[in-house]
Amino acid sequence: MPLSAAEVQEVKKAPAVEGVLPAIHNRWSPRSFADKAVPSALLEKIFEAARWSASSYNEQPWRFLVGFKGDATYTKILSTLIGFNQAWAGTAPVLILGVASTKFAHNGQENRYSLYDLGAAASLLTLQAAQLGVATHSMGGFDQAAAQAAFEIPSDFIVGAVTALGYLGEPAALGNEQMIAMEEAPRARKPLSEIVLSAWGVPAAL
Ligand SMILES: Cc1cc2nc3c(=O)[nH]c(=O)nc-3n(C[C@H](O)[C@H](O)[C@H](O)COP(=O)(O)O)c2cc1C
Repeated sequence: MPLSAAEVQEVKKAPAVEGVLPAIHNRWSPRSFADKAVPSALLEKIFEAARWSASSYNEQPWRFLVGFKGDATYTKILSTLIGFNQAWAGTAPVLILGVASTKFAHNGQENRYSLYDLGAAASLLTLQAAQLGVATHSMGGFDQAAAQAAFEIPSDFIVGAVTALGYLGEPAALGNEQMIAMEEAPRARKPLSEIVLSAWGVPAAL
């Protein structure tokens, strides 16, 4: 018997660490979304969080194309996803395509931080969503050229990732054993000693 949405949330959340924002531990990337719209007021807060992200020269190179299930933007984004992602992402009420300018507006030079900045803004978006009880799942598995063409995105912008957004659904609704197993699997992370270094390959003393 698949776990319920409430049970899977317990399995997925990271162990709480005193002083770390609860949204960071509660956020995870589900594939099953409930058939329930996300109120506009919440979406505004979620994009507001992204808006206040830091960026190189405060260029705010990010743009977010947002589609609501049933509209043309949503259909276009969904159609660019690879088959594996299409199989589950179409249950989400909202699909977002993150786009970044590759040139600095202030001098026309290449902005090599734009994808970094887009990712940072997307991260704030996902955390704000988690804080509001809204789930997100980002995807790199889509046809970037097709997305660029479908939205006539100018060539000095680059597409980043697609993010599915909505309320957590029941794992059983995925209807596919492999996906249900992924939905129920505990999350894992590298230890701090592997990622925080004082010299290459040398863990920092924190
Ligand atoms: C940039 C990016 C691309 C991703 N691409 C996909 C994808 O194409 N399909 C998918 O199912 N999950 C995708 N994921 C989700 C990751 O697999 C997931 O974030 C990772 O396993 C960690 O799990 P967690 O987000 O639940 O902590 C992507 C995540 C990110 C940030």
